[in-house]
Amino acid sequence: MSNNKLILLGTGGTIAGKAADASDNVGYTAAQLSIADLTRGLTEPDGMELVSEQVAQVDSKDVDDAVWRRLLARVNELLRDDQVKGIVIAHGTDTMEETAYLLQAVLNPAKPVVLTGAMRPSTALLRDGPQNLSDALAVAAWPGARGAVVVFAGKIHSALQVQKSHCYATDAFDSGDAGPLGVVEEGNCRLWQPWPVTGNRSTLLGALLTPAPWPRVEWLSSHGNATGRLVWDLLAQRQVKMQAGAGSSVLRGVVLAGTGNGTLSEGLIQALEEAQSQGVAVRVCSRCARGRVVPGPSSVFEALPLPPAKARLALMLDLVARS
Ligand code: SIN
Repeated sequence: MSNNKLILLGTGGTIAGKAADASDNVGYTAAQLSIADLTRGLTEPDGMELVSEQVAQVDSKDVDDAVWRRLLARVNELLRDDQVKGIVIAHGTDTMEETAYLLQAVLNPAKPVVLTGAMRPSTALLRDGPQNLSDALAVAAWPGARGAVVVFAGKIHSALQVQKSHCYATDAFDSGDAGPLGVVEEGNCRLWQPWPVTGNRSTLLGALLTPAPWPRVEWLSSHGNATGRLVWDLLAQRQVKMQAGAGSSVLRGVVLAGTGNGTLSEGLIQALEEAQSQGVAVRVCSRCARGRVVPGPSSVFEALPLPPAKARLALMLDLVARS
């Protein structure tokens, strides 16, 4: 049986966005075109058959557990299909790193799962979507490619390292100190680092796919004059919800993006110690765009070596594992 199918999953985003004017790169509505529309005119890599499927149609700022659950379930099925060589996911850029992280952490894909999108809508004069899609297909078809990766502006980034680092430029993604895994040039991959390590699916997949809501984890940041008031308010609200038996909306965890090497104001430390003593899981990462927290002897809370958006998901997965 040949494994020559590339599956292109549509989820919305700017790549499927439309503006009234071809010169307008910001005043558009995301998630307007279907994945079938986006696929039209694309040339599939040699010997590959392209199949497209709409999994969601959202502006990725609004991605939620339901969309992630659908995506996890579908990608998991496709990974088990011997005819499938690779999967491309057209996704909004704003939370692409979160979806990529989740797919890598839960599915550990032995085949390529390639996320891509666009910074300019489909109506833009100089739109970036078609080239990004074409590069993503080339990576999905590439022999030996594996793992969840983001392909954007000609670069291949691992799901663990990638972050959206620019709010407007077409080269909006960055892998920080680790750098990209490689580049795509005229349909060919040039790799500088190995593909992501892959392994077994997480044993959490079954629990994540049940309709039960995922544990509620909030992400807050330290900053000048951070009093911790917000944490106290969350704790008060938590008490009310617990008394009302509102299980799924009860706060289970907090990720704090600390200043510098994950430091927190005294007010926040006090509030978070109280949160921890009430059973709320607390993790710290850094609000700095580069680097990861290096824990030291004076660290008060457990640190996660991830940027805040991914740290929030990591803690959520940890809580699923413990429940
Ligand atoms: C979105 O994330 O869905 C909108 C922004 C984008 O795709 O660039």
